[in-house]
Order: sequence, then structure tokens, then C-alpha cells
Amino acid sequence: MTERFNIVAGLDVGTTKVCCVIAKRDGGPAVEVLGTGLAPSLGSKRGMVVNIESTVQSVVEAVREAEQMAGVEVGEVNVGIAGGHIKSMNSKGIVAISSADREITQKDIERCIEQAKAIALPVDREVLHVLPKEFAVDDQRAIRDPRGMVATRLEADVHIVTGAITSAQNLVRSVNRADLKVARLVLEPLASARAVLTPDEMELGVALVDMGGGTTDVAVFHEGSVRHTSVLAVGGDQITRDLAVGLRTPRLAAEQIKQKYALAMASLVDEDGVVEVVDVGGRRARMIDRSYIAEIVQARLEEIITLLKREINESGYADHLAAGVVLTGGCANLEGIAELGEQIFNMPTRIGVPLGVTGLSDSVADPIFATGVGLILYDLPEGGRFHEGSDNDAVIFHKIFSQMKSWMENIF
Ligand SMILES: Nc1ncnc2c1ncn2[C@@H]1O[C@H](COP(=O)(O)OP(=O)(O)OP(=O)(O)O)[C@@H](O)[C@H]1O
Ligand SMILES: [Mg+2]
Repeated sequence: MTERFNIVAGLDVGTTKVCCVIAKRDGGPAVEVLGTGLAPSLGSKRGMVVNIESTVQSVVEAVREAEQMAGVEVGEVNVGIAGGHIKSMNSKGIVAISSADREITQKDIERCIEQAKAIALPVDREVLHVLPKEFAVDDQRAIRDPRGMVATRLEADVHIVTGAITSAQNLVRSVNRADLKVARLVLEPLASARAVLTPDEMELGVALVDMGGGTTDVAVFHEGSVRHTSVLAVGGDQITRDLAVGLRTPRLAAEQIKQKYALAMASLVDEDGVVEVVDVGGRRARMIDRSYIAEIVQARLEEIITLLKREINESGYADHLAAGVVLTGGCANLEGIAELGEQIFNMPTRIGVPLGVTGLSDSVADPIFATGVGLILYDLPEGGRFHEGSDNDAVIFHKIFSQMKSWMENIF
């Protein structure tokens, strides 16, 4: 294996920041972070690209910074995708095992999953992930790995994630314009889950919540498989906006106050804590009680967490989450958010920080890096059973599309 194949890069085009993580793999499970790059996200809203030029600029900046730190150049990146256009559903595939010895092979499994994937999709949507949940072999259910078993019929239960073709295209185009190829598109909560959850938690049942600036993503796991995924258009930017309005201060000041002084619950504030807050005009400063700041944050967080609770209930797995909830994404940095989550979810709640990497692991030890780190870990076999093939439909579509484009250019 040449060194080129040992380098992997993840690119998280978030609503507030674009981050790039470059790592080296030694062929085994060890993943060594070589470099990270962060740039303010200028062209995304609620998880979707709304301005290609600005997005390209942020991508170039983040990737260049990571490349400089790593001392390597990358040509291909795993890219995270999210946004309100993401939809997920469950489907089933059934195939007959017709070989003489009736032994189930990898090909049969692939055929079965392919069949489960054959759902009626509107023309403007494409499949991003097909995640096997479990198999049934003749009438025996809940089989994890049917390879080598003998049967006449194989059934697969899969979780399918789809996205709007145009949204995926705009993201791929922005990355391509930054002179990078997209190795694969990964649903952001699946990437984050890969970075912050332990295999035990996925086995016992856990809800991963990635609360970013513009979106809050959810992925529910049980018995090692993905059971439910969704992307909600709510996030930390709403808290910043509430603070800017409530404290009559510029957005930038509100963001700084949030990161420095905000607490998720008013009851956690010391009696006499006050913070200096500048007016919108920037001329006057006032002293504001920290408890008032916390009240504003708490009100919005309660609304978001209640929405998340409803989402988890609707997944049908709320009663199967023995490992509770793991909160990650930038908002997980809000002091007291796990306590508030625990009260509302009525489940154990912890903060998830990226795990399982070596090298510059300190530089990614923050929940804002959950997606970026997950993207460099995603296609390792240790990813558990939500591991898939190497290309997904979205990438295949774009590869074919660009191939066709170059044929056309050659002909005319
Ligand atoms: N120390 C902190 N305290 C409070 N909030 C924080 C802190 N650090 C980051 N945040 C908030 O986290 C949010 C950004 O999180 P993150 O970087 O995960 O989002 P993103 O990936 O850019 O956006 P999205 O995933 O929604 O597209 C912002 O709202 C920011 O204010
Ligand atoms: Mg994010």
C-alpha cells in the first residue's frame, strides 16, 4: 500500500464552521490525526449550501489549514451532509437462495439489500445510505450476519436515507470547485455517532443528538444498528439570536456571551453573577444578571430538547435506550446542558467528545469536531454494522454525471 492510500480526510460543511480533519491510517484500527483546519462557514444555512462561492472559499481555507498542519495534500474527502431535505424510511428486501447448496453468500446479501433499495423515489431525490438493520433466514428472524447459513429465502430489514438531489449536488459542486473529489457523502449524525459513541452504547440502545448552529441531528441505535435518523432545522444560532434580542446586543457580542457566560439552566447560576453587555449601538454597556442570560438560554433549549424528545418517541425506540442520550455538536459545550437534557428526556444524558483517534487528538477533543472526526473513521470496518460499501448513490451519480460531461466536452 502506498502512503497515499493511508491518508483520509473528512470535510464537515456546517452552518457555522467548515472543518477539515486529515488523518493517517496504518491499515489497522489506529487512526492518527495529522492536521485540522477550521474556517467560518459563509455559504450555508440550516445545514444546506446557499451560496457556492462563499462555501468554496470556506472549504479552501479549512482544507489548506489542515494540509499545512498535516504536511500532506489531499485530493479526496469524505463529506458530511445534513439539512431539512433529508428523509429516512425503513424498507425490506426478499430474495430466494437458489444455489445448489443453498448457502447464503455475500452476493446474496448484496442482492437482497439492492432489492430493499428498490423503493419508489420521487425524481428529485436520491439514496444516500442503505443501512442493514437485521436479516431473516427462512423464518428465523433477528440474524445479524447470515453469511454461510443455509436457507431458501433471505430477508433484509434496512434503513434508507434519502436527500434532495439538488442539495447534494450543490454540496458536491462546492467541494469540486475547491479542487477536491468527494469520496463519499455521509449523513452527519452517522459520522458524529461513529466518533463519539461506544460499541456498547450502540448495542444497548442510544440516541445520538448533534446540536450544531443551524441543525440538530438525531440518530437512534439499538442492538448495534441504526434504527432511526432525522435532521431538525433548529440549533444554537437560535439561542444566539434570542440572546441578541433579549439583551439588546449585537449578534457577535451575543455569541461571545453565550460561549463564555451562558449556562443551560438558571438554577445553576451563582447568586451574584453579573456580565457586562454592550448596547446595539456599541456606545453603552450595562451589567446583566447571569441568571437572566441563563433564563433566555434555558427557554430555547427546553423547546429544542422537547422537540428532540418527541422525535425520539416517534422513532418507536424510546423505551429501548438503556444507554440514554449522548449530546454532541457545539451546543454540547453549554454548561449544564446534560443536566437539562436528563430532566427533559428522563434518560441518562452525557456529552460526547470524539474518541478513538491518536496523534493530534487534543486538537479535536471538542464536540464541534464530532462530524469531522466521524468522517475519517466512517468507512473503517470497526464502524459496526452500519458499515456500507465504498460508494453511495449520490457519489456514483455525480461520478457518472462528470464522466458524461467530459465525454460531451470531448465530442463537441
Ligand atoms: N463553548 C460554547 N458554549 C456554547 N455554545 C457553543 C460553544 N461552542 C460552540 N457553541 C455553539 O455551537 C454551535 C456550533 O456548533 P457546530 O460547530 O457543531 O455547528 P455546525 O456544524 O457548524 O452547524 P450544523 O451542524 O448545524 O450545520 C453554535 O451555535 C455555537 O454558538
Ligand atoms: Mg454540524
